[in-house]
Order: sequence, then structure tokens, then C-alpha cells
Amino acid sequence: MNHFCRWIEPLHQRDVKLLPAGQSIEYEDFPCSIDVTGPLLHTLFQEHWREVEIGHVVEGSVLELEFKQPPKIFVVYDGYLTVVTEGWHLHLCVEEHQGGPLCKTPSALRRQRLIQRAALYRQRNERGQPCSWGIQFWNGAGEKMMTLFLPNPFLGEGDDFLPQGRPRQDKLKLYDELRSIYVLGERPIPFESNPLKRPYISVCRSSRCFPSRNWKPVYDALQQAVDEAGLDITVMTAGCLEVCKLGPVVFYSGDRSWYTRVSPDVAREIVRSHCVNGEKLQAHLYPSGSSSSDSPSAGKSEPELNRGHDSAKAQ
Ligand code: FES
Repeated sequence: MNHFCRWIEPLHQRDVKLLPAGQSIEYEDFPCSIDVTGPLLHTLFQEHWREVEIGHVVEGSVLELEFKQPPKIFVVYDGYLTVVTEGWHLHLCVEEHQGGPLCKTPSALRRQRLIQRAALYRQRNERGQPCSWGIQFWNGAGEKMMTLFLPNPFLGEGDDFLPQGRPRQDKLKLYDELRSIYVLGERPIPFESNPLKRPYISVCRSSRCFPSRNWKPVYDALQQAVDEAGLDITVMTAGCLEVCKLGPVVFYSGDRSWYTRVSPDVAREIVRSHCVNGEKLQAHLYPSGSSSSDSPSAGKSEPELNRGHDSAKAQ
């Protein structure tokens, strides 16, 4: 059983990188396990989505995306956090991507894809004055992953520069809070458990899910059974859950289990036997014979849904 700790152990790792045009960027590292990045990303994308922007910054290219509305989907499936908005979506590897029910991802690739370094940053201009604030992630190959842009006191509505000498210093509140919790360990993580590990159960709604594409009765049966059992489990739909041709397919994130050929009756039994009593339905489990004790994620619970690319798409 994974124990969630509300206090981070400070890394005391500060790094100043000089930039070609005379600016500099100061990185302060913080731990990057999912029990740290989960609460952090939940805070940013679920509570502060109006104030943060997502991007990617390398020499010669900058991408910046803003939220117009709260994310429609915010869930982890097989190690990837998926965040879906009206106009764009992102996938970020926050835990080892095992490669679906058959765990097909080689171990070296799992390490390469995962966040291996995380830092709060503060960029200074050529006069040494702070001018932008954010969070940077790197993968296992040392490559820059996503950049999160935090509120900037020099920018007003529409990212217009404010008149000189009149920065809105109150906009640094979020940076200061995050630094206090995640870099300095002065304050506890503001969650009792990892919000990315809240369990969910999903049914594939892809039209490719042969032989039955009729996912709706299965979804309704899951929802009804969860409600009747009074479980704190979210029921949702998913894109491809990497089984296909054995549909309808259901995934339970609590201990990373896949079920195939799920009828409404089987769906109700999954909830009653597995989610309530911890007993898997061997006849519908995929791969057959798998159990929580031989799963690489045995005992873990993780909320979910979908990366794109080589597998599931959130819907
Ligand atoms: S299309 Fe449903 S699991 Fe792949």
C-alpha cells in the first residue's frame, strides 16, 4: 500500500544557467515522484487553470497554450496524465508507462518517457531583474519536456506588458506558495492523498471495439452498481484501452485491471466482486490469469484515462 506523505524532502539543488543574450535562469529542483507532481499538477490545472499556461521552450521555438475553461478531462492512464480542453489536449508521463495490459514498453523506454527532473524556475533579464516564473520538467534522456508558465506580475490582461514600475506583485503568490511547499518543504502538500490516484472505472467507447460497440449499457450498469455500493469511484468512458476485438472493454484503475466481453451483468459483477470485495472476475480478466498479485502495479490505485498516440484517447 502506497503511503502518501504530505511533506517533501527538499533537494537543496539550485542551478543558474546563463543565456546567450545576457539573461539567466535559476532552477530550484524538487522531487518528481507522482506523489509530488500529482498534487502539484492538480493544483495548477484544476484550481489555477485561469492563471497558468502550458508550453514548450527550446532555442528557436516557443509554444504557449492557455485555458479558456476548466479541463474537460484530467486523468491518468498507464502512467500518462491526459488533460483535455475544448481546443487542445496534452499528455505528460508522470508515472512509468508500462504499455497496456501486456506491459509491452521496454524498461529503458519507460525510464526515458518519465519525468526525471522537475524544477521551479525564475528567469532574470540582462539587468538581473526577475522577469518570468514557471516550472520545467525533463525526461529520462535529459530533454526538456513541458514548461508551465506561472502568473507574471509584469503582464496584464491579454499578456500585455504593464506600465514600467507598476508590476502586480500579488501575482507572485502562486509561485511563492508552490516554492514553499514543493522546493523548500516549509508547508505540507495541501492534499490528504494523491489526487491523481483517485480510482475510476472506464469503458471503451471506440467504434473499433469489436465485436460489440454497444458500450452505453455497460457504462450505465457500472454507474448504477457504483452508486448502489456507495463507492467513491468515478465512472467514465475512454478511447482505446489497448485490448480491442474483445469488446466491450472495461478498465479499473484501482489495481490496473482490464476486463473483456463485458455485458451489463458482468459490469455489475465487476463492481460488486472486484471494486467492493477485491475479488477479480477471472473469466473476463485480460490477460487471462492475471491478478493483482502478479500485476506490475499490484496494490496501486491510480485515476485515469488516456494518452493518445499509441493507445487510449480520452473522450
Ligand atoms: S478499441 Fe476498445 S479497447 Fe481498443
